[in-house]
Amino acid sequence: MGSGITEVLARSGLDVLVIERDQNALDAGRQRVHASLTKANAAGKISDDDSRRTLDRLRFSTDFAELRDFPFTIEAVAEDYAVKLDVFRRLDEVLVDRGAILASNTSSIPIATLAAATSRPENVVGLHFFNPVPVMKLVEVTPSLLTSDETLAAARTLASEQLAKTPITSPDRAGFVVNALLIPYLLSAIRMFEAGVATAQDIDTGMTLGCAHPMGPLALADLIGLDTTAAVAESLYAEFRESHYATPPLLSRMIAAGQLGRKSGQGFYSYPR
Ligand code: CAA
Repeated sequence: MGSGITEVLARSGLDVLVIERDQNALDAGRQRVHASLTKANAAGKISDDDSRRTLDRLRFSTDFAELRDFPFTIEAVAEDYAVKLDVFRRLDEVLVDRGAILASNTSSIPIATLAAATSRPENVVGLHFFNPVPVMKLVEVTPSLLTSDETLAAARTLASEQLAKTPITSPDRAGFVVNALLIPYLLSAIRMFEAGVATAQDIDTGMTLGCAHPMGPLALADLIGLDTTAAVAESLYAEFRESHYATPPLLSRMIAAGQLGRKSGQGFYSYPR
């Protein structure tokens, strides 16, 4: 998600500093942006010049302190409470401008929890993109109880005017709007597959051809990442204690086996590298 967000920000004309945790992650992130731009260029979606200008607007670093003068940061680290809280604490320490906005691309973690890790909760807002970010038009914008009207307006303006996405304002509840609906659907498909009711291909074909979804639920879980799908399900279950949010055993076993979907090369389907 981070590389997709990076791409759309830079394509819209913004200078972007990408912070990664180490050199390997940095190289992989840069490579993902390159690959996506190359694909968009081959499909005639971006010219050679715009592609070059987009790359010129990007800077990569592993030094958090380089963020100090940025007016707007978007956190897109793993869907893990501890990791996200640590990032928000560190952002709060380094950002000099007291008006700087701290946005999170979390799929499910309450924004109030992240805001509470900072000394400026009024500047913290959810800005949730969808995968693949350059293609999907929606952004969920989520204010917490403490988000200021100015911060909410700035986040909506970034999404709609700068990035040409369509924002919706989502409530600060686990899963917001989209994942509260999407995740139980994906988990139901996994349970159906686990119970041997139908093959993965037949479940997915049922939904693509029967309901005109662009991809079936098991292929979509692979695209999102099975670890991310489970992490969002756990946030939903922790908040609502409803059984349709409970992680199916097969999903837990696949994650334990390192089968994380597209990013690992194996999920409900195989993705030869
Ligand atoms: N920039 C601009 N356009 C791009 C692009 C880029 N970097 N990369 C691809 N595209 C364009 C392609 O050129 C193509 O355009 P046309 O339709 O005009 O030909 C279009 O995007 C589709 O790309 P592909 O042809 O490569 O792929 P596809 O047709 O097989 O579609 C898909 C792939 C877009 C993923 C489609 O299957 C789809 O929409 N699936 C559903 C995705 C979805 O539901 N995402 C939400 C997941 S939930 C989430 O992310 C949130 C969370 O918190 C878990």
